[in-house]
Amino acid sequence: VAGKEYSLTPKKVPLVKTRYRTIKTKIPVPASLAVLKRLRKFEPRSMSGQPPVIWDKAKGCQVWDAYGNKWLDWSSGVLVTNAGHGRKEIVDAVVKQARKNLHNYCFPSDLRARLTEKLVKASPKGIDKCFLLTTGAESTECAFKLCRTWGQKVGGRKKIGMISFEGAFHGRTLGAQMMGGIPALKDWIVNVDKAMWQVPFPDGYWVEDTRFETFLAKLKAQGVTPDRVAGVITETYQGGNASFAPKEFMQKLRAWCDKHKILLVMDEVQAGFGRTGKYWGFEHYGVTPDLVCCGKGISSGLPLSCVLGRDDVMDQYAPGSMTSTHTGSPLPVVSALASMDIIKNEKLVQNAARLGRVLHRELKRLQKKYPDRLGTVLGKGLVASLHMVKPGKKKAPDGDLAFAVVERCIEKGLMLFSPVGVSCVKISPPLCINEAQILEGCKVVAEALDEVLAEGA
Ligand SMILES: Cc1ncc(COP(=O)(O)O)c(C=O)c1O
Repeated sequence: VAGKEYSLTPKKVPLVKTRYRTIKTKIPVPASLAVLKRLRKFEPRSMSGQPPVIWDKAKGCQVWDAYGNKWLDWSSGVLVTNAGHGRKEIVDAVVKQARKNLHNYCFPSDLRARLTEKLVKASPKGIDKCFLLTTGAESTECAFKLCRTWGQKVGGRKKIGMISFEGAFHGRTLGAQMMGGIPALKDWIVNVDKAMWQVPFPDGYWVEDTRFETFLAKLKAQGVTPDRVAGVITETYQGGNASFAPKEFMQKLRAWCDKHKILLVMDEVQAGFGRTGKYWGFEHYGVTPDLVCCGKGISSGLPLSCVLGRDDVMDQYAPGSMTSTHTGSPLPVVSALASMDIIKNEKLVQNAARLGRVLHRELKRLQKKYPDRLGTVLGKGLVASLHMVKPGKKKAPDGDLAFAVVERCIEKGLMLFSPVGVSCVKISPPLCINEAQILEGCKVVAEALDEVLAEGA
């Protein structure tokens, strides 16, 4: 899970000049080193796993630095700018609001009413209420608390457990990491809550057995009985590798939760707001969760998250006892209102579905070319993940190859964030991308892979 630190030695790279990309300096840019080194000095080492490019401005699917380089963005930040970077409607709304009122925190506001109503109305039937927060981790923490409180209400003091999935990521705070399924990330906790259990996520590649019966068997093997379970939380697709569970599995999970008065929580922090070619990622499964955690793409930029859910679950706490200082902070709220309008008006969900098919077709072609190094391509819509593996070993992740591909793509003017889940090159452009930009990006990924493999990676 540990990432790699990028070199701060400028490298001479071939010049690039296309409609969507310009690279005219060494990378990292020598003139940017002073800032990069200051960051290394004043920030914790954990922050040095980010590509050494200093963004100066961004618009739509393009990112510029201050030195004449231009990237085609396939990161959306980290899946944040679903509507696109620097959208005029969002910028105008934020500027207008900033001039008007920044201070309406612990008092009711029209903006908060507008956004919570809009989010509930964008949700399926059965989702009645919305609680606004700031980060994705806060939303999963909040869902955890709601589940645990609910469990005790319907099943007494023993019904407090949470089931989650191996490989899952729900954020970096205590509860979120205890629910997470990456052992290295929670090693520091030592005394992890005993009522937290993980089971394999049935992605069909890393975990071939996708039967629901196996889920039940894995619980049984850990001594878990449904009367001790308050909630099941899962990312709609696993962020680490863009993998989905089979529809049938999720439907059986939904039925099992209903049968045993267990809440089903979908962490849509990555999957929501059109990313997967549907407005909500869980629509692919034909199920409605009891609670939905949102973040990232909710606002296309400013920090905002929320929990959406059934009113009987959301209304458990007395007035004043589930709040947050920045709930409904005006600038993120107007950003989200404008972003949701853009996604609707420009039919970006449909665009993600249509261009997602093009993206996945091209990436699958690439996978056929390098089946022994590109183990599989997963994802739906405008999220994809290239799973790099050691030569000929379908199940042996190759983090070095993934890192080399990301680094080379950036040198060629295609912006990606660092590999995730150790060995995955993750692709997640803004949803306003066009077909030419998809095809050009795929060409760059193919070139990068050709080159680093030819160099012996
Ligand atoms: C699925 C998922 N849940 C939760 C989080 C945590 O969100 P944040 O970083 O805003 O706390 C993330 C962040 O990457 C995520 O991908």
